[in-house]
Amino acid sequence: MAFTAKILLLGSGELGREFVISAKRLGAQVIACDSYAGAPAMQVADGHEVFSMLDADLLAKAIEKHKPDFVVPEIEAIRTEVLADFEARGVTVVPSARATIMTMNRDRIREVAAVELGLRTSRYRYAETLEEVLAGAAHTGLPCVIKPVMSSSGKGQSTVRTARELEAAWTYAVANMRGDRSRVIVEEFIAFDYEITLLTVRSREGVSFCPPIGHRQERGDYQESWQPTPMSSAALSAAQDMARKVVDNLGGYGIFGVEFFVKGEDVIFSELSPRPHDTGMVTLISQNFSEFDLHARAILGLPVPEVRLAGGAASAVILADREADDFRFEGWQRRSRHPAGKSICGCSASRRPGPIAGWAWFWPRRRMRTRHGPLRRRLRARCGLFMGDEGEGPSRPLPQAGGECLGMASTAISS
Ligand SMILES: Nc1ncnc2c1ncn2[C@@H]1O[C@H](COP(=O)(O)OP(=O)(O)OP(=O)(O)O)[C@@H](O)[C@H]1O
Ligand SMILES: [Mg+2]
Repeated sequence: MAFTAKILLLGSGELGREFVISAKRLGAQVIACDSYAGAPAMQVADGHEVFSMLDADLLAKAIEKHKPDFVVPEIEAIRTEVLADFEARGVTVVPSARATIMTMNRDRIREVAAVELGLRTSRYRYAETLEEVLAGAAHTGLPCVIKPVMSSSGKGQSTVRTARELEAAWTYAVANMRGDRSRVIVEEFIAFDYEITLLTVRSREGVSFCPPIGHRQERGDYQESWQPTPMSSAALSAAQDMARKVVDNLGGYGIFGVEFFVKGEDVIFSELSPRPHDTGMVTLISQNFSEFDLHARAILGLPVPEVRLAGGAASAVILADREADDFRFEGWQRRSRHPAGKSICGCSASRRPGPIAGWAWFWPRRRMRTRHGPLRRRLRARCGLFMGDEGEGPSRPLPQAGGECLGMASTAISS
């Protein structure tokens, strides 16, 4: 069997699974890697490898064994020095080994954005001791946000409102950091009006953008997102200018999720992922080409088509409130057909520690004319339905679902 390219995917979660589907549609062979068997992307890939991607030897062995054309990281926690070695030996790392190293470390990407490129960011300081944390907070002012330099999905992150909380925030960050550097970033808290992800594609043809995605996070973790999100053209072009500068600096081809805070007309760069973004799950339903399609096309050197929106859409995570070996998604079948005929439904169980039980996609009842409040309420109502709730009540935890037992379900819900 001849394939268009061989891809070694590092990280096999739900986002990886969607990427495998997109890459396979373009004729690629994909070997999915993760530290546990049966991960979502492994369920649809051509082959798989189970090992810790933080283990340099095992990672090198997997690359040597498969001799991929492309190494595509899906997660941050990877021994990135190994990627740099293989890149030097001619393997294409997506988007580039440098991008994976820079974005895995908050301090390094912050230096690129704030110092090298002069982008507007929150005020910040780094700290490696409690004394430095106190000095950092004196520099940023309170409230401030403290995050380990190596972490994702809000792990080890806290917002500090009074000086008395600084010590606990430092201890919490160190206890929940990844890697072996006890180093945090102390950031000025930005009381933003809203925050966005600007999906930015860098391909042979240049840089292009998807319409902005609005999102809401709780405790630093993704809850729901919607596309498009209303934004002035001045703010959007400021975000696009900054995103272009960052992705051109990082180099390579693929999609980047560039995160910004917006306050009035002030657009503040936050951070970015050099890969599809969780808030961009909404593009599976909102765009003619999803973020996964665009990533695959840019990597494989194909033309990147113009992105068109199918109308306003939104997505949300379904959070579980307890551990369980088995769980069901209820109530979604009734809602899985959209009047326009497009319907996405599916469910795949995986086992991975963490609170997300699934994802849901929605077409809201009306166009998203307003700011975020009303949509948020509709999302909650739909989430309730999705989780087996008969009425349009408040969002409820998934029945019989647990923190250990995860899955992915997607549905287009007619209204
Ligand atoms: N300086 C800040 N001011 C206000 N809110 C902030 C600040 N920093 C982070 N947040 C909030 O916390 C969220 C997560 O922060 P950030 O993206 O830096 O963390 P993360 O752990 O890398 O998350 P992820 O991996 O999910 O992108 C942001 O989307 C925002 O809602
Ligand atoms: Mg983020």
